[in-house]
Amino acid sequence: MTSRAEDLVRGHIHKNGPISFETFMEVALYSDVGYYRNKDIFGLRGDYYTSPHLHPIFGAMFALQIERMWEIMGSPANLYVIEQGGGDGTLAVDISTAVSSLNVSLYESLKYVCVDRQKIEIEDSFRIQFAESEHISIEDQTCIILSNELVDSFPVRMIEIIDKEIFEVFVDLDDKGDFIESLMPLNVSELAGFLPRDIQNLDGYRGPINTKTREWYSNLSNVMKKGFMITIDYGFEKDLYYSMQKSHRLLQTYYRHTEGSSPYQRIGSQDLTAHVDFDSLREIGLSNGFEEIEYLSQSEWLDSMGLANILQQLRVGPDKNRAMVNLISTLQDPSGLGGFKVLIQGKNLGNIDLERLNSDISWPLDLRFPNVREVHMAYSRERGSAYSLNFF
Ligand SMILES: C[S@@+](CC[C@H](N)C(=O)[O-])C[C@H]1O[C@@H](n2cnc3c(N)ncnc32)[C@H](O)[C@@H]1O
Repeated sequence: MTSRAEDLVRGHIHKNGPISFETFMEVALYSDVGYYRNKDIFGLRGDYYTSPHLHPIFGAMFALQIERMWEIMGSPANLYVIEQGGGDGTLAVDISTAVSSLNVSLYESLKYVCVDRQKIEIEDSFRIQFAESEHISIEDQTCIILSNELVDSFPVRMIEIIDKEIFEVFVDLDDKGDFIESLMPLNVSELAGFLPRDIQNLDGYRGPINTKTREWYSNLSNVMKKGFMITIDYGFEKDLYYSMQKSHRLLQTYYRHTEGSSPYQRIGSQDLTAHVDFDSLREIGLSNGFEEIEYLSQSEWLDSMGLANILQQLRVGPDKNRAMVNLISTLQDPSGLGGFKVLIQGKNLGNIDLERLNSDISWPLDLRFPNVREVHMAYSRERGSAYSLNFF
């Protein structure tokens, strides 16, 4: 039996002819019957874990960074913290709870807005404003815009290079009604700024191009008058992104903690994600007024938030808990979540002391972290159950 999302894709092709891979991904993920309409896609019962689902400490580290950014900007009386692609709202709740215990004045100044293309339902709103939207409708504010694994979920175009010619991948149906791909010559000038100059020499290369990032930054430039932006995701710089080493490996599928099946299987029930080309985020960001401030790995970023001290306390302090140390350390695993990139950009910040951005920061050791809840992997760990997991 075919899924409703698969039927919808077929309907599009019957009506319009071959559709671009980007349109296919849009329907498979974000239509009314798409993947992101499913319940329980995160966590143990879902398809994958993300950093916020591991332990609320991740949200606490974000709260520390937000506090420092707010201080550097002169502690404005109104600060929007806008999280885009908030998923099930786990990070929003943890950040908001952590800020409330970390700094009362900041908490009073804070308007936390969590935006996602899917509806986020949380019993207690924790003073968070949730919005179901593809864009942020706030304008011209002092704000901190943050996202975790948002950009990898944008629908992407797909290219392939054959005999020095660049083609775009389209999705079609054969005579038997099975999905097939067709390649159409690409108008390269449309993608200027994304593709490296000598790309046609990468014979056999296949990979995604995330042109949605253009409209994303254009929206953000209307939202932010002044402030910071923190983007966490997995990906590479251009040199590695556009290389035979990464060819065919930048688009991934996730279903129940297993990756790697064809994108044309389980349409609507498996996730599709694409690694991020961070150089293009820097460049498009810059052309929209967002200057790069920091670019580091998630592991380095968490180090600069003082995570090592916390782990040391958990190793030797009165509440020592080795299982929890091991779990939290996965946030810094260089071959997994720790290898994710953290891109910090800023707009109209003027002459401020950026040296202070992530130096001498630590969570006060007498302060509790936000509670571990059922959405966190730490919840089952506390109860002693072990299972294998996929973090992306
Ligand atoms: C991979 S999930 C990550 C969720 C969450 N940030 C986390 O780390 O667990 C990507 C989320 O981004 C949302 N999303 C994708 N494009 C979006 C857009 N343009 N605006 C808002 N949300 C978007 C999806 O609906 C999905 O919930």
